[in-house]
Amino acid sequence: MKTLHLKETAEDIKKAAEIIKKGGLVAFPTETVYGLGANGLDAKAAAGIYKAKGRPSDNPMILHISELSELQEITDHISDNAIKMAEAFWPGPLTMIFQRNDKVPDVTTGGLDTVGVRMPSDPTARALIKESGVPIAAPSANLSGKPSPTKASHVAHDMDGRIDAIIYGGDCAVGIESTVVSVKDDEIVILRPGKITAADMEAVTGLKVSVDPAIALDKDEKGKGSSDNDDKDFKPMAPGMKYRHYAPDAEMLVIEGEADKVKAEIEKRKKDLESEGKKVGVIFFGTKDFDEAAHDLFARLREMDEQQVDVILAGAVEKTGLGYAVMNRMLKSAGNNVIKV
Ligand code: TXA
Ligand code: MG
Repeated sequence: MKTLHLKETAEDIKKAAEIIKKGGLVAFPTETVYGLGANGLDAKAAAGIYKAKGRPSDNPMILHISELSELQEITDHISDNAIKMAEAFWPGPLTMIFQRNDKVPDVTTGGLDTVGVRMPSDPTARALIKESGVPIAAPSANLSGKPSPTKASHVAHDMDGRIDAIIYGGDCAVGIESTVVSVKDDEIVILRPGKITAADMEAVTGLKVSVDPAIALDKDEKGKGSSDNDDKDFKPMAPGMKYRHYAPDAEMLVIEGEADKVKAEIEKRKKDLESEGKKVGVIFFGTKDFDEAAHDLFARLREMDEQQVDVILAGAVEKTGLGYAVMNRMLKSAGNNVIKV
């Protein structure tokens, strides 16, 4: 299949929308990461996404809408708290889980009776959804298991020849995927941390916000973080969180601790590894600017694959605010290979 490379022009967005309407696959920019979109109400089209990504079919997809009114086409149950959340954070990097109605096919939700919905803020994403006239099912536009794409070139690397078109936009502003939440009457549960933090949601709703215990970063003292794939009892509320994700080709080690100590440990290990003839890549954000860390993490991982490094040494960031989401991704990338200094 020849993959069309499109621009963010009205004319090209129209072309992309025609492809979506006909059941095809189009990758497009969003403010979080690039998405791989298809008509989310068309079972055949949605099935094509799993195939192109090599994605397990029990991992549900997010439906993307461009206006709040489109939510009613997907679900019959919209709570007051959900409305409050939508008013505060949509359009933006937040996905909420709803009971789905029977217009939403099984393939889109991986067989679940719930559906994740997000209204992206990226103007190209919104124009594409609007022009297509359907909710667009879109996981991140990477091959399953690889770091999510934050540049169009990442998408082309993974998806050229496998999908109908790629809309070339700029770099994604946030750089990690949306916060996924289940909104209940008296509580909000985070199924995947992201740019919208627990504190942001508490401030707006007055509700208690907790993290799905299965993915909590501090659940054990042995230095194992979240998403231990070997644990048979590991059942996160978001099915996607159980898979090894964002994995670079290189072996990766996360080093946690006070910044100076982490820096020294990285230098020492780098020297040792290099003396063994290994090529070493270092990720050390070194600031409390979590926005920068989120923006750069996946791109850095992909760069290191390109440079064919053997080992990546990554300094942990603080697990507060957006740093929590960054650490969720970093630990997954490393397959929970982490030490404390
Ligand atoms: O920022 C994002 O959310 C990006 C852009 C493209 O919008 N999309 C994205 O999709 O990250 P994906 O498929 O890579 O991740 C969706 C996550 C998975 O962990 C999935 O298991 C979870 O959301 N999810 C989707 N629907 C769900 C549902 N009904 N119940 C629980 N978890 C769900
Ligand atoms: Mg993904």
